[in-house]
Amino acid sequence: MQDYRELLAEIIIPEKELQARIRELGKEISQDYQGKDLLLICILRGGVMFLTDLMRTLTVPHNIDFMAVSSYGSGVRQSSGQVRITLDLTTSIEGRDVLLVEDIIDSGHTIASVIDLLNTRRPHSLRVCALLDKAERREAEVPIHYCGFVIPNKFVFGYGLDIDEYYRNLPFIGVVRPDKYLAPE
Ligand code: PRP
Repeated sequence: MQDYRELLAEIIIPEKELQARIRELGKEISQDYQGKDLLLICILRGGVMFLTDLMRTLTVPHNIDFMAVSSYGSGVRQSSGQVRITLDLTTSIEGRDVLLVEDIIDSGHTIASVIDLLNTRRPHSLRVCALLDKAERREAEVPIHYCGFVIPNKFVFGYGLDIDEYYRNLPFIGVVRPDKYLAPE
């Protein structure tokens, strides 16, 4: 895989700004979940960087668990609103205060399907925390209780978000050069 610099058009959210916003979110979540039974659920794989940084900012006791889902279809994102669970939770969420942690909400179909599914398991509460909101692309209406940044409709990568599974480790959010890489539709 080539050096990420060859694919980078611009950094839209630098590391410092990301971390500062995550600290703010952590403070807000810590206030809201005082005395509650907080369970953070990370949707793999993109949400993993955000989860680990966010949880370090929390001052309330909490558990973590993981889920992975994929769209139906031939590996390409479908706007059908259907997702398949490829890795399920290991813990029961019944009666718990669940916070879904996502890197990005785009069409909204992934998180909408996950919410529908998890609601059948009767959590006490279920909220969404997303680092990035590509609001222009929304097709399914989803509540985002905690949002890091609203971003433009550009192909972004870094900080959990990949290009062909690479570059998730970068500490910032960058935009891909359109002349160098064509985003999958
Ligand atoms: C990304 C992201 C969300 C979803 C958002 O995951 O992490 O789960 O897409 O898109 P939507 O709002 O249009 O449904 P992806 O399927 O790329 O998998 P990854 O997290 O493993 O990169």
